[in-house]
Amino acid sequence: MHSCGLLCGFELPDYLVDLYKNRKAPCRFSARKSLRRLDPVLLRSRPRTVGNDWTGNLIHHHQGNMKSRTFLVTGASKGIGRAVAQRLNADGHRVVGLARQGDDPGFPGRLVSVDLSDRAKTQATLDRLAAEYRFDGLVNNVGLVKPQRLGAIDLDALDAVMSLNLHPAIQAAQALLPNMSAQGWGRIVNVSSLTILGIVERTAYAAAKSALVSFSRSWALELATTGITVNSVAPGPTETELFRANNAPGSAGEQRYLASVPMKRFGKPDEIAAAITFLLSEDAAFITGQTLFVDGGASIGKASI
Ligand SMILES: NC(=O)c1ccc[n+]([C@@H]2O[C@H](COP(=O)([O-])OP(=O)(O)OC[C@H]3O[C@@H](n4cnc5c(N)ncnc54)[C@H](OP(=O)(O)O)[C@@H]3O)[C@@H](O)[C@H]2O)c1
Repeated sequence: MHSCGLLCGFELPDYLVDLYKNRKAPCRFSARKSLRRLDPVLLRSRPRTVGNDWTGNLIHHHQGNMKSRTFLVTGASKGIGRAVAQRLNADGHRVVGLARQGDDPGFPGRLVSVDLSDRAKTQATLDRLAAEYRFDGLVNNVGLVKPQRLGAIDLDALDAVMSLNLHPAIQAAQALLPNMSAQGWGRIVNVSSLTILGIVERTAYAAAKSALVSFSRSWALELATTGITVNSVAPGPTETELFRANNAPGSAGEQRYLASVPMKRFGKPDEIAAAITFLLSEDAAFITGQTLFVDGGASIGKASI
């Protein structure tokens, strides 16, 4: 027997699952008949049907669980943002991504080019997109790191880090808020960082990521009765371009990060995306204002004594 997500987790024999997946049924009718013979309980207890596929309503989704939704992801062309877009797309959702690099036919959705450090252009893009789409949720993922140690902190660099991490998050949340409020359903996930617990050379970055956690907690309270949840995901060191730009292979930074992760490895973008997409899902409806560390145990403490 095989438990298949496509078929609501109902136990089905493998041959029927293969039949569906490979489209080898001789005809729609015989495939449906095979399923009907299988278990009358399956048919009696089936939840709402979504779509009308080749077998004639063979695919059923749990009530409300798999509704196709539209999400905006900032910093979506690479790394964690792209992994989020890929997961959402694979789950049947529509994704609009923002990044400076817009021309990417392989992007799993629509990738819109905008420099999110340009406040006016960001606002104009968000206004245009909010008029075009009914967004259900938002992932505030774009971020910037400029490592600097106390004694050599440049205020312009600090401003750049704070503003790219924080301004688009507020602008995007405010652009999407009217639709999410009107429909009584919405999700916001702010991408924070393990570094909020304290780390050298990240005064500006860790402060900005702490502010995102604070945004989530304040917005969660303000929106608690609206059907909109707001949470933070705080990744540990994750193998992406941004991480590698600041921690080259063999560097002291890489060693420091590796030593701090009890699992003794870096995260993969898809592992962070899994947590983010869970918080965007119907199943996460009663979770708001939380910070989920996805970090191989690094936020817990030292693995060895
Ligand atoms: N990787 C880690 O270890 C780690 C750990 C904790 C938290 N985080 C956080 O996770 C988030 C994603 O990080 P990542 O590692 O996936 O980064 P990444 O691989 O460098 O990707 C960053 C994304 O943001 C876009 N972007 C950067 N600057 C932009 C700008 N001015 N305007 C528009 N788009 C811009 C980039 O696209 P373009 O270059 O095309 O613009 C890219 O799509 C960040 O907030 C980061 O702080 C990462």
